[in-house]
Amino acid sequence: MTTPHLTVVDHPLVQHKLTLMRERDTPTAVFRQLLREISHLLAYEVTRDLPLTTKVIDTPLQEMEAPTLKGKKLALISILRAGNGLLDGVMELIPSARVGFVGLYRDEETLQPVQYYYKVPGEMGDRRVIAVDPMLATGNSSAAAIDLLKKSGAKDIRFMCLLAAPEGIARMKEAHPDVPIVTAAVDERLNDVGYIIPGLGDAGDRMFGTK
Ligand code: URA
Repeated sequence: MTTPHLTVVDHPLVQHKLTLMRERDTPTAVFRQLLREISHLLAYEVTRDLPLTTKVIDTPLQEMEAPTLKGKKLALISILRAGNGLLDGVMELIPSARVGFVGLYRDEETLQPVQYYYKVPGEMGDRRVIAVDPMLATGNSSAAAIDLLKKSGAKDIRFMCLLAAPEGIARMKEAHPDVPIVTAAVDERLNDVGYIIPGLGDAGDRMFGTK
């Protein structure tokens, strides 16, 4: 399914791998490897409209004008900590990308996201920015992370996740209608403590073997 704001990558390999990740008994190492594999396929989709230019090169046989990526290197932004699992795979595909990190936690009293870490590449306004976080749940921390990236000058931002809840998509659309979302699936809903249902549990715990 594709709208200007949302692309669901319903490729059979993505869907198969996602099912394995959802299963309760999938071991940590396998979960991590699957996330890495899926991130390649999601990154393929999120970068499909990158602008190209051409340059003249010499093949062993003759000179040719060949396509090459245009503009400054991409900025990949991991929303900590679960974003790092997606980040690894995207970095494999785009090794020259610049990388940044946004750390937010939820204040237990106000329930609002609070920043504890922020480091992004320079010249954000001249780069395609891809923010990654596997789970788009309430959308509050994702929207807050995008606010910070925009304050750093980012104008061309994409959000890449593995699973999205309808509530999170709505929140992002309201806060950042200019930021397209690419996801492997849209699940049914959030439960009363903010987990995606049916989901896959806590993505950070599953990828790092915590809890
Ligand atoms: N974060 C997770 O890791 N899992 C959810 O289901 C929701 C938010």
